[in-house]
Amino acid sequence: MTKILVTGGTGYIGSHTVVELLEEEMEVVIIDNLSNSEREVLNGISSITGKEPHFEEVDLRDRESTFGVFERHPDIAAIIHFAAFKAVGESVEKPLDYYENNLLSLIHLMEAMKKYGVDHMVFSSSCTVYGEPDTLPVTENAPIKKASSPYGNTKQICEEILHDAVATMQGKGVISLRYFNPIGAHESTLIGELPIGVPNNLVPFITQTASGVRECLSVFGDNYNTPDGSAIRDYINVVDLAKAHVVAIRRLMDHGQKSDFEVFNLGTGRGLSVFEIIEAFEKSTGQSLNYKVMGRREGDIEKVYADTSYANSELGWKAEKGIEETLLSAWKWELNIRSKK
Ligand code: NAD
Ligand code: UFG
Repeated sequence: MTKILVTGGTGYIGSHTVVELLEEEMEVVIIDNLSNSEREVLNGISSITGKEPHFEEVDLRDRESTFGVFERHPDIAAIIHFAAFKAVGESVEKPLDYYENNLLSLIHLMEAMKKYGVDHMVFSSSCTVYGEPDTLPVTENAPIKKASSPYGNTKQICEEILHDAVATMQGKGVISLRYFNPIGAHESTLIGELPIGVPNNLVPFITQTASGVRECLSVFGDNYNTPDGSAIRDYINVVDLAKAHVVAIRRLMDHGQKSDFEVFNLGTGRGLSVFEIIEAFEKSTGQSLNYKVMGRREGDIEKVYADTSYANSELGWKAEKGIEETLLSAWKWELNIRSKK
């Protein structure tokens, strides 16, 4: 059985990906230090799949402990590297924490690839590397813009590290996946996003407002140069996103002895405004949402959505789930969490 190391595997996107890997009969080792997730997520994964991943509570900033995992699992064939700090605002307040965590973790894993002969890695990148794109939809060849936050900068630097390191490592292959806006939860409602504190992201804020945890959603800006004045993003279902990782792993393993670094956009290709998301949420759930229009949020871009043609043709992968189905899954997950509190 192919053994895959998933870092950040108890986190939001990681847990959904672990489910897909287990369902494809792969063996999974998770590394997570539980800094932004809970051990209980492992129960959700097992309930869905009937299988148990190996779990290693390890901090990737610790090189020796990280290497220890490779000593215990000498047959790891590939790595999917999700583990990182990801809050844009927090990264402005604590830049060193972000550079330390996101860069050191990657460097230690690359060192382990070299030392233990692991040939493949899939890396979690972000459409944040494009900033405010000059042309839409945005392709993988669009210029990388100056990062607007230390978080965004860590993604740019990590891609550069991967590009440079892979060029010197015969037979290694890396795929960097640039996610647009992942939302929703597994249809079982056994795993989903667990935002700690007040959510920064739109969809968790919407579901928490509808469930009464938050009083009112603030719509950040209605005077953008978009059809209804609110900002536009490409919202992708987290299960669709997770499936792309299985495809990327297979592509790397089928590739043979090439040293290369590839980049793919993971989005739907469809841009939706904040007002369109609110409308779709109300329609799919039957809930009416309390919201008010506020000023723009600092650092926000006006519109971004993916050109997915390269991912569609080269990976043979396409996002399949519609926005209403996805928002309904987020709502069911919210109801599930609330019923346990
Ligand atoms: P998440 O916070 O839910 O998951 C990340 C996991 O990594 C957490 O479980 C955390 O405990 C773990 N972790 C962090 N630092 C670690 C360390 N040093 N050692 C071991 N474990 C560590 O985040 P997510 O939303 O699942 O995001 C996964 C990846 O995708 C991240 O790299 C993120 O930057 C990237 N990404 C996310 C989004 C998004 O909107 N969610 C968008 C673009 C890119
Ligand atoms: N928004 C609101 N009200 C809210 C929250 C968000 O109106 O309470 C708006 C934002 O202004 C933006 C849109 O909803 O126009 C989406 O905002 P999110 O915070 O959900 O997502 P972003 O596109 O700002 O950022 C996300 C991740 C980043 C990542 C980026 C690109 O949070 O980590 O996608 O991948 F860098």
